Amino acid sequence: MEIVMIHGQSHKGSTYHIARNLALKIGGDIKEFFLPRDFGEFCIGCTKCFLESEKKCPHYDKLKPLTEAMDRADLIILASPVYVMHATGAMKAFLDHYGYRWMVHRPEKAMFSKQGICISTAAGAGMKSAMKDMADSLFFWGISEIYRYGKAVFAVKWQDVSEKNKKTIDKELSSLAKKIRRNYGKAKTGIKTKLVFHAIRLLQRKGWNKADLEYWRERGWLDKKRPWS
Ligand SMILES: Cc1cc2nc3c(=O)[nH]c(=O)nc-3n(C[C@H](O)[C@H](O)[C@H](O)COP(=O)(O)O)c2cc1C
Repeated sequence: MEIVMIHGQSHKGSTYHIARNLALKIGGDIKEFFLPRDFGEFCIGCTKCFLESEKKCPHYDKLKPLTEAMDRADLIILASPVYVMHATGAMKAFLDHYGYRWMVHRPEKAMFSKQGICISTAAGAGMKSAMKDMADSLFFWGISEIYRYGKAVFAVKWQDVSEKNKKTIDKELSSLAKKIRRNYGKAKTGIKTKLVFHAIRLLQRKGWNKADLEYWRERGWLDKKRPWS
């Protein structure tokens, strides 16, 4: 299994250790990117990606290795510590660059057969909203099989997380890894994704955005073809 891990921070704390441990338990080729170290640009709001092409984004070349790794992977792991009840700014800035890939614009077909995981740790609270920040993108990219693992670690450093908590985490990760391995190659597009896709298809048929319309037409999605099998 090819696994790509995008870390919403550049240091190796609790979130890193949990995400890494999960990936090792799943097994396969693991590729990791750390934000902002490996990509730290902010979207400048030029909207060229939406209206013309993502290739016109001033950060297209810098983002390309991450994009290609995600397109190749069977499993995408987005991991972020909670910063003020949400995912880190670095993670958000990264995800902003893929607005053009949301189903409402030009989703990538490959996404519909992948699994995705959102991981978040907090000292106490905020994992749910931080994971939603990441899961929203995975869902609107077209991924149906999305898992969430949020943990309150009651510490700000991995070495200060209690042994009891670490043991619980290890057990929970083992069972999550098993589930993901079992679903390898079997990710199915769910009813919610299909409904959203069909609603957007009606909108696309009206031709509200030329770049999107051409994209949908070329792929036959305005006719009978669909990005899932
Ligand atoms: C800027 C900042 C904001 C934080 N905000 C929260 C928060 O809203 N809720 C919380 O419980 N912990 C918060 N924390 C604590 C971290 O989420 C927590 O320690 C997390 O496990 C750190 O993960 P890491 O070791 O991977 O960096 C914050 C930490 C930082 C540095």
